[in-house]
Amino acid sequence: MREKLEALLQEAVTELAAIATEEAFHELRVKYLGRKGALTAIMKGVGALPPAERPLIGQVVNSVRDQLEERFDAALATIRNARKAEKLREERLDVTLPGRRRPLGTKHPITLVREEISEIFAGLGFQVAEGPEIELDYYNFEALNFPKDHPARDMQDTFFIGDNLLLRTHTSPVQIRTMLKHAPPVRIIAPGTVYRCDSDATHSPMFHQIEGLMVDKGITFGDLKGVLTIFVNQYFGRGTGVRLRPSFFPFTEPSAEVDIACVICKGKGCRVCKNSGWLEILGAGMVDPEVYRHVHYDPETISGFAFGMGIERIAMLKYGISDMRLLFENDLRFLSQF
Ligand code: DAH
Repeated sequence: MREKLEALLQEAVTELAAIATEEAFHELRVKYLGRKGALTAIMKGVGALPPAERPLIGQVVNSVRDQLEERFDAALATIRNARKAEKLREERLDVTLPGRRRPLGTKHPITLVREEISEIFAGLGFQVAEGPEIELDYYNFEALNFPKDHPARDMQDTFFIGDNLLLRTHTSPVQIRTMLKHAPPVRIIAPGTVYRCDSDATHSPMFHQIEGLMVDKGITFGDLKGVLTIFVNQYFGRGTGVRLRPSFFPFTEPSAEVDIACVICKGKGCRVCKNSGWLEILGAGMVDPEVYRHVHYDPETISGFAFGMGIERIAMLKYGISDMRLLFENDLRFLSQF
């Protein structure tokens, strides 16, 4: 019986060495140590031995069982360690691999131009002001000295929402809102979205303007010309020609349209400037005393100037864009050039 037990141990050790998975391990454990396993089968024979031999064989049986338990425990640990090592190998991460590059976006040309222009005026002490895009007739027209049946209202192709409510047709209402909130001195620019019922290669029903307003004691037309000349020289390049032409706006008196020497032909005359050598870039003027009446400023003690320009138009001139619709189609081949 002793030989049988030792053979059993040997056999188990050999079989254990050959297995690699926990399932195989459990099967093997049942085969040798289970209730109906090989060891139990041998132990059943102990009862048939002469009583004198039983204690000795009992000891051998116990010793073989202990050794088997030990071998099985060790084998399980080995299997588990091997599995863990394999998993670590599988999940290994190479932190030295180069990352996946995401394509970098660019700013929309309208944003770009708005920021560039705002920065120039910030350098001249102008602060940014804002107003609503859905505006009252009063701020968009009335307080800017467009009386109800004034013909100048027709120039603006207004989208009306109700009798007194509309989509602002220009950023000029921000002048009124700002002056109502702040006593002079005022020095602001107001970039924003505006709307007009108009659409072709040079007009979009939604576009952008930048308004400017400077009011203080003793501001003159000379200040207007000086500030705008500094702007033109910084934005379009030193020495760019500037010219003022008399014009009309209900909220400024006198009013002017400001031209710059054509950025394409440098004033020689081309298709873009229609052979005139000049490009109109903005409207401006001295704030009309009638406007001050609406915001409770005293025109006897203060004066000021205002100006307004279209961002799309400036962007088209600056970057040589021939069709305004390109700015709103969101074609990445176009946008990624900026
Ligand atoms: N609001 C005018 C427009 O949209 C532009 C303008 C002209 C603004 C003269 C001004 C200004 O502030 O003084 O046509």
